[in-house]
Amino acid sequence: MTKAISDLNVSHKKLLGQQKGVLCPCNPSMIQTCNAEKALLNKRLSSCNLQLKSVLPQRDSLHQQVNVLRSQMASVTKQRDTLQSQMNVFAKYQNDGWQYFRGSLYYMSTTTANWQTSRDYCVSKGADLVIINDAAENNFARGFKQGIWLGLYKEGSRWKWVDGSYLSSSVSYWIPKEPNNTGGREDRVEIQYFNYFNCWNDSPQTNKNYWICEKKVV
Ligand code: BGC
Ligand code: CA
Repeated sequence: MTKAISDLNVSHKKLLGQQKGVLCPCNPSMIQTCNAEKALLNKRLSSCNLQLKSVLPQRDSLHQQVNVLRSQMASVTKQRDTLQSQMNVFAKYQNDGWQYFRGSLYYMSTTTANWQTSRDYCVSKGADLVIINDAAENNFARGFKQGIWLGLYKEGSRWKWVDGSYLSSSVSYWIPKEPNNTGGREDRVEIQYFNYFNCWNDSPQTNKNYWICEKKVV
């Protein structure tokens, strides 16, 4: 028992000694350990700083890429919306019997009317009387095999399309000897002899014809 008590005292003293060693900041071995640990941490810190330095340019370049992608997405979204609304227009007109040819929608009338009434119909549909821009379009128009009004009229002594442009001699398909201004009152243009490549005639605006409307869609 006495031995046990003295053993306990010894180990108590020992523990107190150890405790003193741990708590005392001046303990040299403790300082050494701390310094070693500090050096290690500093090393890790500078390695982290290095890594950070090498990653920063990557981050900046990623930011740039994100910005580029954002603006690309905005432009693609805009294109998609434009296409969607074009498709909606398309569907609506096709439902009403309009047909597509090379960037325009065309409507062939089912009744006849004078030039102005024909034009008014087209304008009321967001279109205008057809403008012939080349031989292919002329062939397309005469393919309906009807006498039809074109969007071409006389202004003074010149022929003018309904979009305000003047008729070009290289894109005109008059019947030989036309325009002849019969009776001095032929101020509008029709497709008359649709079986022929040169099929245009000048005609009085009060005559009745079928007509073709054109609406540009692209
Ligand atoms: C038409 C004229 C045309 C002539 C040709 C007439 O019936 O009204 O516009 O020039 O035929 O012979
Ligand atoms: Ca004529």
